[in-house]
Amino acid sequence: MNASLRPTLLLLLGLAWLGPGSCGPACGPQIPPHDQVARVARFVAHQCDWASMATISSHRPVEGQPFSNVFSVSDGPHGTSSGVPYLYLTRMEVSVQDLQVNPQASLSMSLAQTDYCRQQGFDPQSPLCAHIILSGSVLEVNGTEADFAKKALFSRHPEMIDWPTDHNWFFAKFNISQVWVLDYFGGIKTVTPDEYFQAPPHRKHH
Ligand SMILES: *[C@@H]1O[C@H](CO)[C@@H](O)[C@H](O)[C@H]1NC(C)=O
Ligand SMILES: *[C@@H]1O[C@H](CO)[C@@H](O)[C@H](O)[C@H]1NC(C)=O
Repeated sequence: MNASLRPTLLLLLGLAWLGPGSCGPACGPQIPPHDQVARVARFVAHQCDWASMATISSHRPVEGQPFSNVFSVSDGPHGTSSGVPYLYLTRMEVSVQDLQVNPQASLSMSLAQTDYCRQQGFDPQSPLCAHIILSGSVLEVNGTEADFAKKALFSRHPEMIDWPTDHNWFFAKFNISQVWVLDYFGGIKTVTPDEYFQAPPHRKHH
């Protein structure tokens, strides 16, 4: 169903439209406490469906300069967070061409991409509007990891299933070397990949 029609339809059916985070602690995912930094990072990485990815450009006239572009990502189907941002890429794409020269990149994701910051009244640049920056590199994946990447991406980006096959799409992951977190006042915090992958992203359901 078209997402913009859905609220209208629900209203016609006499039901209230409750977007994510609009229904209080009883339902919907809750952001972890700001001092549990690794959990906040996992939470943001799982909530976001897309990221801004900066590469080192290989294209004139900006060779060697940062180049930031938008990519659909998924770290797993909703409720199944792996922490690893997976991507569906083609070598025809400008940033992917950069990655073939230098696979180092940076991914940025923000709860400004969800309803959370608007509902809370947090400006996207406020640290209260939790956002993360990942440093690392982009690696192609294959075998069982590619199977998981496909499930992760296609469940949250169903349009990908129909992307033109002659583009030779492949699955990739963002191999994290450092996690940077802005989720509160007092400056940026860092989380190691180990801390990040060990953190449970969601509160256990009671
Ligand atoms: C999968 O990728 C690894 C390196 O990333 C490579 O060593 C391995 O041969 C690949 N396997 C297949 C089935 O392509
Ligand atoms: C992946 O990232 C880790 C650091 O988290 C690094 O040690 C490793 O060399 C990276 N792998 C590749 C193939 O770049």
